[in-house]
Amino acid sequence: MARILVTSALPYINGVKHLGNLAGSMLPADVWSRFKRAQGHEVLYVCATDEHGTPAELAAAAAGQDVKTYCDEQHQVQKAAGEAFGLSYDVFGRSSNAPNHRLTQHFAQVLEDNGLIEERVDRMIYSIDDGRFLPDRYVEGTCPHCAYEKARGDQCDNCGRLLDPTDLKDPYSAVSGSRNLEVRDTRHLYLLQTKVADRVRGWVDDRSPSWQPLARSIAYKHLDEGLIDRGITRDLKWGVPVVGPDGGPRPGLEGKVFYVWFDAPIEYIAATEEWAEKSGGDWRSWWRLDAGAEDVRYVQFMGKDNVAFHTVSFPATILGSGEPWKTVDQLKAFNWLNWYGGKFSTSQGRGVFMDQALELLPADYWRWRLTAYGPEHADSSFTWEDFQASTNKDLADVLGNFVNRIVKFAESRFDGVVPDGGEPGPVEAKLEADVTSALATLTAEFEAMEFRKAGQALRALWVLGNEYLQEAAPWTAFKTDRDRAAVGVRTGLNLVALFARISAPVLPFTAERIGATVGQTDLSWPEPGAALLDVLPRGRPVSAPEVLFKKIEDAQVAEWAERFGGGE
Ligand code: 2FM
Ligand code: ZN
Repeated sequence: MARILVTSALPYINGVKHLGNLAGSMLPADVWSRFKRAQGHEVLYVCATDEHGTPAELAAAAAGQDVKTYCDEQHQVQKAAGEAFGLSYDVFGRSSNAPNHRLTQHFAQVLEDNGLIEERVDRMIYSIDDGRFLPDRYVEGTCPHCAYEKARGDQCDNCGRLLDPTDLKDPYSAVSGSRNLEVRDTRHLYLLQTKVADRVRGWVDDRSPSWQPLARSIAYKHLDEGLIDRGITRDLKWGVPVVGPDGGPRPGLEGKVFYVWFDAPIEYIAATEEWAEKSGGDWRSWWRLDAGAEDVRYVQFMGKDNVAFHTVSFPATILGSGEPWKTVDQLKAFNWLNWYGGKFSTSQGRGVFMDQALELLPADYWRWRLTAYGPEHADSSFTWEDFQASTNKDLADVLGNFVNRIVKFAESRFDGVVPDGGEPGPVEAKLEADVTSALATLTAEFEAMEFRKAGQALRALWVLGNEYLQEAAPWTAFKTDRDRAAVGVRTGLNLVALFARISAPVLPFTAERIGATVGQTDLSWPEPGAALLDVLPRGRPVSAPEVLFKKIEDAQVAEWAERFGGGE
């Protein structure tokens, strides 16, 4: 049994996440955690809300709330939405909680002790009309690299480049729209990434051979562009305060806080501390190489815009500390999920958001679409038409129909029990061979974190079930050869039990219902080589489910397209 630490990029606190956020980090992290737990491994899946920085302050201002009240509320909202989607995190922490304050200040102190932090006087954009500095997303303008006109001060959403607010052309205040800006001096802490660049590259060279091309290429792109020293403090009120060695205000930097991207990844560790406080677990054994984390395998999930922070900036912090922290082994990055050809947008409310999605249909319908057709090796689009197709053709016609048909038949013709009698023949032998081989493929795709391929392998197994029923046709055999029919039904019911187990990582809610039809409560992952098609005790009662998946009608598609805007 291995110990596996899983983190998914921490969702910003600024409102319920859209399906694109879900598909590119939290959902695959959950699916994979469930897969690994089902195999019997000890998994700790850590997530949290990312509560600092300009996204939090701007959203709170837009909501007319003070930042703390806003974050308190939105944390609960996001936690509830995640749970309703079946996200099985062991902890859903908060980057504004005390452990992250302590740990962030600790990292800054050890980096400084190691000569990797320097105070510099910076030239920053100041808004005369707003009476304040405009760090990061407080300023928007034209990207100097790709000319996108709504680039934010910290990053261009169009070309993905990390920016400094003063890089922007034609800048304006995101608070007021004012262009009445000037550049003023302000004192900040800089992390001397140039001094750790070689160490970071060596670390990437060591770890990245096992990463998929998307993560690896982004990491090297940033390394090859050359690391620059980075400001890690901001002129904001909300955040982790910058302190001196005695824990009091630091002279010259009073009232300043750490940059959100400095403290957010540290929350992975701090959220584990939050977990330990509640569960009595030992967070150090997951994170400290001197406390047992040597044998932990650490896997991170994130969208491609987060890769640079996780492969370069956060490792610079960790390696620069010189302390024995666990660093990521496997980094799984995702492309964008688009909303029809365009972008989902939290700020503009474009697309479908997690809470809205669940008002339309249960979580598993979305989990299937976003996993089996997710934005994995290329950007992919969400459209209502595709969602209708994957629901109707995969879930309703293939999986739902199979389970329903065979369990109903057992109810009507075999007294609602797993029938006895008959011996498996060549059709069952071939099925067993096909299922064993397809299951090996499915397991390998999950192991490799190839989610779309795993989805197709899973569907292929469901199809095998339908093909078997077609061929064995117990309803026909029943008239002439009851034993043959019994074998067909028994084998079909065993497939139902198997489908419950192998569908559970992606479809956790439905898997329980499917399992319940044949009394299969153990949803562990099948061991390689184990018998699969004759494991249910004969005579065990079975009962058909209520409809597992409703088909999506054209009229619904039209209504949702109207309500959510669809293509335009
Ligand atoms: O891009 C985002 O949504 C960030 N909130 C991700 C943070 S990941 C981690 F480092 F905290
Ligand atoms: Zn750009």
